Amino acid sequence: AETGCLSIIVLGASGDLAKKKTFPALFHLYCQGFLPPSEVHILGYARTKISDDELRNRIRGYLLGERSSSPSEDVSDFLKLVKYVSGSYDSAEGFQLLDKEIAMHEISKSSQEVSSRRLFYLALPPSVYPSVCRMIRKYCMNKSDLGGWTRVVVEKPFGKDLDSAELLSSQIGELFDEPQIYRIDHYLGKELVQNLLVLRFANRFFLPLWNCDNIDNVQIVFREEFRTEGRGGYFDEYGIIRDIIQNHLLQVFCLVAMEKPVSLKPEHIRDEKVKSLTTQIPQHLLLLSSVYTMKDGKAGKALNSRKAEIRVQFKDVPGEKQGRNEFVIRLQPSEAMYMKLTVKQPGLEMSTVQSELDLSYKQRYQGVTIPEAYERLILDTIRGDQQHFVRRDELKLTPYQRGSRGPTEADELSAKASYGQTHGYIWALPPYR
Ligand code: BG6
Repeated sequence: AETGCLSIIVLGASGDLAKKKTFPALFHLYCQGFLPPSEVHILGYARTKISDDELRNRIRGYLLGERSSSPSEDVSDFLKLVKYVSGSYDSAEGFQLLDKEIAMHEISKSSQEVSSRRLFYLALPPSVYPSVCRMIRKYCMNKSDLGGWTRVVVEKPFGKDLDSAELLSSQIGELFDEPQIYRIDHYLGKELVQNLLVLRFANRFFLPLWNCDNIDNVQIVFREEFRTEGRGGYFDEYGIIRDIIQNHLLQVFCLVAMEKPVSLKPEHIRDEKVKSLTTQIPQHLLLLSSVYTMKDGKAGKALNSRKAEIRVQFKDVPGEKQGRNEFVIRLQPSEAMYMKLTVKQPGLEMSTVQSELDLSYKQRYQGVTIPEAYERLILDTIRGDQQHFVRRDELKLTPYQRGSRGPTEADELSAKASYGQTHGYIWALPPYR
């Protein structure tokens, strides 16, 4: 593994994403020993003029995330690694100061010169990516003769339409090489999304069946109960389709639809994903656009539950009335995969019923903590693995009522795609609840 100083710079450090996702992910990596204090320092950068301690106080309450257990000394030891620099996103002074800070820490981590690894996490709106990247390129690159690297992590949405996406890509592309750019889509860091390739290509159950001769339709479902909650400005500017569909769900779609890659090397996987977008889209795009938007334009938000799942429904078995085989992969909440299948109803009668083979993670993998998506992806960035990072695309909308299970058109669309609901079937809740 690489050693030497590792500087993690979170730009947009006082924003929502940094507070809720980036810093907690760094904290969990720290707790698991992936960010040794002898090598690592973390710098927040933003326009707000605050002190190191003020930044620490702002993020402290979020570090644990949804996980409850972590000794309080971990929190304070981690916060000691965090410093803050304030400056604008397009001024030389700010970035010169940032570079000085980084260099100072690089020297203080070791008395002699060491290799320098610099990871810039842009927890910022894409409108400032070009200027921030220019500043980093000009003032903050790794200068050590002893090796290391400079990498930038950027968040979606990558532009507003094809033209702006290409403009953004070329602006960043002029400053950094592809291996230095990490376009993050945190859905690619989710446990069950990462499991898709393994499931599909390492199991005889699925290999010969995963095609249009056997699969009738695929549903990718995404709902959230909460609304935009303080992020209205961001949604007004970038739009909801770009927030969820053109990235998270389209990525999931690629992994469901793609052919087997030549190998599991990042470039082979990404090649197949792109092929699935060009060859499979005409039939499936409709399904993706069935993930709807509410009256005020919030895709998948303000519905009656929070759920993300993939449903692969197989064709009817001739003469079988009971219901279809269906393979469900629930990304969240409560990761699970289950197969609905027809079995004999236990008892004296020779009748059939639908049941399930169930792999519920909490029950099957007790005591195993499933890492947060961001945690895994930041670790990949440090390790230089681009397998779970992205490219781009886009879509259209339909309104629905707040608090409903979604627009009726969604059901109509599913019906058109011949998705058959098994009425009366109830998925049995596993006992861990
Ligand atoms: C983010 C979107 O990318 O994903 C949010 O900006 C959305 O609007 C979130 O709520 C959903 O992520 P998760 O991991 O909670 O499903």
